[in-house]
Amino acid sequence: LQPLRDLFDLNYLKFVAETYCPSREPRSPTRDCMRYVLSGGGKRVRALFCLGMADFYGAPRAGLRGAVAVEMVHAYSLVHDDLPLMDNDDWRRGRPSAHRAFSEVTALLAGDALLTDAFSVLSDEHFFPWDQSLSIEAQLLSVKELSMAAGSQGMVLGQDLDVFFTGQSSASLSDVEVVHRHKTGALMGAAAALGAIAGGATLREIHRTRQFGLAIGHVFQLIDDSLDDISGTGKSCGKDASQGKLTYRSFMSADEIRKRAKGLTQQALDEFGLTPENQLFSFIRDLVFREH
Ligand code: IPE
Ligand code: IPE
Ligand code: MG
Ligand code: MG
Ligand code: MG
Repeated sequence: LQPLRDLFDLNYLKFVAETYCPSREPRSPTRDCMRYVLSGGGKRVRALFCLGMADFYGAPRAGLRGAVAVEMVHAYSLVHDDLPLMDNDDWRRGRPSAHRAFSEVTALLAGDALLTDAFSVLSDEHFFPWDQSLSIEAQLLSVKELSMAAGSQGMVLGQDLDVFFTGQSSASLSDVEVVHRHKTGALMGAAAALGAIAGGATLREIHRTRQFGLAIGHVFQLIDDSLDDISGTGKSCGKDASQGKLTYRSFMSADEIRKRAKGLTQQALDEFGLTPENQLFSFIRDLVFREH
């Protein structure tokens, strides 16, 4: 996926930031904050997953809009996740989190705007350089895909349950799976499905792709849990345990999590029918077995 990585480099996101939240007058703290967030890097795995899937279905560049939109929704989710009223995290991507660099109200608004603007990106006719245009039907399917994944049936539900279970010792392993499949799986499922839509996949293929992405997103969050108490992630260290978060670490060791992650990943790859010859295969392996 190296050519796609090169296409979707940090400069591309900076360009998106400057286009959607320009630094020109009127000066706006919210737009400054959006540019700060969008140019903060991150691994951009959702974007690459989307582009990789569009490539899998034969039209890599058509995935660009979906890639940008899903990264914007993801960025908003992180900005709100870090707020004092949620996870209260001061660090994100190796820098002060948005509300620390700006203010709580600005971070709140920047998150709102990133979420909303993501849907302009999906349905914008003219904006994207290197993009292949999407049919109106594909745009509509994409808007539905991302809104379902982000809202009260997807990521927001997951975050709600995450907050609800915090400090509750009676939660079970199946509770944590439900939380993770929603708070992280849903958006990863949408990333994959947006790529499939852009690549011209059938409705059946889009569904299968979403299920695959969801399973991979669940594993991605397992690994995130296992890395919470190591340094070098660009985030604060050991906060899940100190805040009484419901994570896989509440039930097993980091090694056991990795073993489980391996099994779940293999199962997802088999079900989707992705073989090692496909370039998405090693992308998925690197994504879920990352060390930081
Ligand atoms: C962090 O996501 C939050 C989770 C859902 C695990 P990432 O690990 O993808 O964060 P960035 O975008 O690389 O910073
Ligand atoms: C976040 O999960 C999932 C989101 C929807 C933002 P975490 O709270 O574990 O993510 P980090 O560890 O802060 O990145
Ligand atoms: Mg959280
Ligand atoms: Mg958090
Ligand atoms: Mg975490």
